[in-house]
Amino acid sequence: MNLGFLASGRGSNLQAVIDACRRGELAATPRVVISNNSASGALERARQAGIPAYHLSSHTHGEGLDEAILEALRRHEAQLVVLAGYMKKLGPRTLAAYRNRIVNIHPALLPKFGGQGMYGMNVHQAVITAGERETGVTIHLVDEEYDHGATLAQARVPVLPGDTPETLARRVLEREHTFLVETLGKIVRGEIPLD
Ligand code: GRF
Repeated sequence: MNLGFLASGRGSNLQAVIDACRRGELAATPRVVISNNSASGALERARQAGIPAYHLSSHTHGEGLDEAILEALRRHEAQLVVLAGYMKKLGPRTLAAYRNRIVNIHPALLPKFGGQGMYGMNVHQAVITAGERETGVTIHLVDEEYDHGATLAQARVPVLPGDTPETLARRVLEREHTFLVETLGKIVRGEIPLD
């Protein structure tokens, strides 16, 4: 299965998928990486791996951004789109063209700790402040709202006494890497239906 990625930052989840595909653990091919951030680790990792990488943002493309993203995904024949730390909403054309073919990874157990403002350390801080004993990872279909589409899979991660947002983030991120690969594998094999 051909994968397209959108990512805004570090790109460690992208890297986990690239590595799994290379090792033959995931029957998929990363075909294109798109970022709104020209300095993102994700674009750098893509270039290192020889994957076509594009900086497409509202600054570079203005009103035409949605169309430019869709065009890049189509040109590289992406069949499934993975949002791996993408901090922007997708436009209506891309959402319509790839309906039920776009997944997002979120570092908490949605529907808790999701939505506007719930990203990065904010999520883990909120989990600790709420006194949760457990957090985790959610992989879900993407729709018009942040962190909102149908949940496809969740993994649980314990919150330990004395956790700081940083220690918790590290534990969750480690699980994200394995869980994203596992879940994409299930999607590719048809074990998790998207429709
Ligand atoms: C991850 O925690 C992911 O769940 C969230 O953004 C972060 C991206 O990290 N959506 P990375 O760029 O993959 O390292």
